[in-house]
Amino acid sequence: MGHPGGLLRCYNKRDDTDRRLFLTVVAMSHKNLLCLFLFLSLRRSELAASSSAGREEFAFNGFLAANLTVDGTAAIVSGGLLQLTNNTKQARGHAFLPRPIHFRATSNTTVFSFSTTFVFGTTLEDPNLGGHGLTFLVSRTRDFAGALGSQYFGLFNQSNNGNSSNHVFAIELDTLFNPELGDIDNNHVGIDINSVISNSSSSAGYFSDGTGSFNSMSLIADRAMQVWVEYDGRGMRLNVTMAPTPMSKPSTPLLSTAVDLATVFLDAMYVGFSASTGSFRTSHYILGWSFKLDGAAEALDYSLLPSIPRTRGHGRSRFLEIGLPLISAALVLIAAGAVVFAVRRRNKYAELQEDWEKEFDPHRFSYKDLFHATHGFREKDLLGAGGFGRVYKGLLPKSKLEIAVKRVSHESRQGMKEFIAEVVSMGRLRHRNLVQLLGYCRRKGELLLVYDYMPNGSLDKFLHDKTRPALPWPERFQIIKGVASGLLYLHEDWEQIVVHRDIKASNVLLDGEMNGRLGDFGLARLYDHGTDPLTTHVMGTMGYLAPELARTRKASTTADVFAFGAFLLEVACGRRPVDLAADSEHPVLLDWVSESWRKGLVLTTADPRLGDEFPAEEVELVLKLGLLCSHPLPAARPSMRRVVQYLEGDLTPPELEPTHLSFTGFVPHSRKSSNGHVSSFPSSSPAVTTDSIVSSSL
Ligand SMILES: *[C@@H]1O[C@H](CO)[C@@H](O)[C@H](O)[C@H]1NC(C)=O
Ligand SMILES: *[C@@H]1O[C@H](CO)[C@@H](O)[C@H](O)[C@H]1NC(C)=O
Ligand SMILES: *[C@@H]1O[C@H](CO)[C@@H](O)[C@H](O)[C@H]1NC(C)=O
Repeated sequence: MGHPGGLLRCYNKRDDTDRRLFLTVVAMSHKNLLCLFLFLSLRRSELAASSSAGREEFAFNGFLAANLTVDGTAAIVSGGLLQLTNNTKQARGHAFLPRPIHFRATSNTTVFSFSTTFVFGTTLEDPNLGGHGLTFLVSRTRDFAGALGSQYFGLFNQSNNGNSSNHVFAIELDTLFNPELGDIDNNHVGIDINSVISNSSSSAGYFSDGTGSFNSMSLIADRAMQVWVEYDGRGMRLNVTMAPTPMSKPSTPLLSTAVDLATVFLDAMYVGFSASTGSFRTSHYILGWSFKLDGAAEALDYSLLPSIPRTRGHGRSRFLEIGLPLISAALVLIAAGAVVFAVRRRNKYAELQEDWEKEFDPHRFSYKDLFHATHGFREKDLLGAGGFGRVYKGLLPKSKLEIAVKRVSHESRQGMKEFIAEVVSMGRLRHRNLVQLLGYCRRKGELLLVYDYMPNGSLDKFLHDKTRPALPWPERFQIIKGVASGLLYLHEDWEQIVVHRDIKASNVLLDGEMNGRLGDFGLARLYDHGTDPLTTHVMGTMGYLAPELARTRKASTTADVFAFGAFLLEVACGRRPVDLAADSEHPVLLDWVSESWRKGLVLTTADPRLGDEFPAEEVELVLKLGLLCSHPLPAARPSMRRVVQYLEGDLTPPELEPTHLSFTGFVPHSRKSSNGHVSSFPSSSPAVTTDSIVSSSL
């Protein structure tokens, strides 16, 4: 026991009232004083429990060492607080001194005078809503199992409320207004005898000693308050006084009522507290309590009282202890989510933009806009998959402009700058027979080209899809003239010469009025760039490739004219230039038409789906022009200006020379790729010059 640590443990088991002594002892730290300490503390314990001939008294400044009987939610909690309700709804709790107190001498009917005082506090989850309250009570029994909580404070139930057999006397501190039980307001002190309907009650508060003015107090305020209950057994008067802690007892009581407790009190009665909650989470605490029979209860030592949990109301404390961390965690999660979302979004809409592209900004579309315009490039919006990529239909949200978006996969960045420059310059091409290029967008490994939307799709489908009705001749002729006019514009009428390089029926698109429009010009060029010069190959479509391309690979307007010739034959005959189907009698259309021409039977090659009703001269003109344009020698082919003049009837085409009719059809030594394009590889001449589709103007 000589060690201070032992003292400390010893102290902890004792009443709080000994703290001062302990501190003194520690301060003096002298062995001789230990005896004094032990003596004094023993004496105090004795005093606290003394009961000499009905003169019972006790004092608890905190309940650490108190031996109370508790039930329900009541408990002695940290620091020695007596907690009656524990911040739960519909709770009730009781705490009693375990032993009964004898309020009268056995042979006498007079009830002893007594006085008691206690300090209480309340904490609320919601700063303004609490309930129901607590009581100090004197009762025949400690068993309140059958009682209700809420407005009954754990004292009575509907059936026994008001019964004189209850033998319950209580001082209620009521914080809810129950008019059916005679409550005067939601913040009052009442004297209850066998019933929660008070004998007498008053709004909570106190009268100032000097002025006598009334100061109201909120029973659910976040502070400790003290109540004094004094009964004069001879005068049969009960005084109840209250004040905020720490304040000495006001001399004017809040309630002063004539009551004869003799009818209520039996010989032995239990003293204690009860409290109850209803729909609001509330904690009711008793901090200290003293009692004395036939005398004044010992004053409480405020410095020894435990404190009410510090924060204003459990609401806030819960908010700080649970809510705040939860909210912080939620915020962190939200922030993390936002980052992930932003990153995914950024990746989703990521574009590739280099410094040199700044000047092309006006022609650039944001990927996000294109993504939304095409509903995320959904399959339903797929218009077709061509030689260079997939084409999607879209609707620009702001302008409500219908567009076609071509996604061209392109890994190489080499040559991209020139290509974009060309794309942009081609965006300046304006002709009613060209599909208008509106702009572009670049992503990693991908180029997106934005065109005007052509509602009727490609001519290819009208010619070769046998499930569709046949395209009548006037429309075919109209389309042919349109395409010729568009090609003439590219070759001669614009500020620069533009070689299309991939003329074919599937690159002829039809607008709402069935006008033919050339699309995809210049795209073949993309595939020339960035490839190893040794493997540079000519891109084009089998049957449309001019024979000289296999040797020179030099794109030229005359090669375009050759392809246009193949196109003319295709439109007039309704057959592809090369049909490699095994059962095909005439695999090469050009051979068949020229042979038929020689035999004077050229009209037999006309598309059977045209029927018999077609102007023979026009069909013959188209077939003849097809053969003229397909001349094996580039120089012998007519220019597009001439072609247009022949088609318009402004000039009569020349007669076909025998050379036209003697050459054998050209099928390049080729590899057919899955998309119908062929790549012709030069066998010699590795020195390849990269030609440009846009050559300087004359
Ligand atoms: C309140 O007390 C009751 C009864 O002792 C217990 O079941 C409950 O868990 C307690 N609630 C809190 C919040 O402490
Ligand atoms: C506390 O009170 C109970 C009930 O009266 C009693 O049995 C018990 O011995 C007491 N304990 C102490 C430590 O006084
Ligand atoms: C009311 O309380 C009394 C005393 O606790 C009990 O005997 C009785 O059964 C209770 N009545 C009801 C209806 O709960």
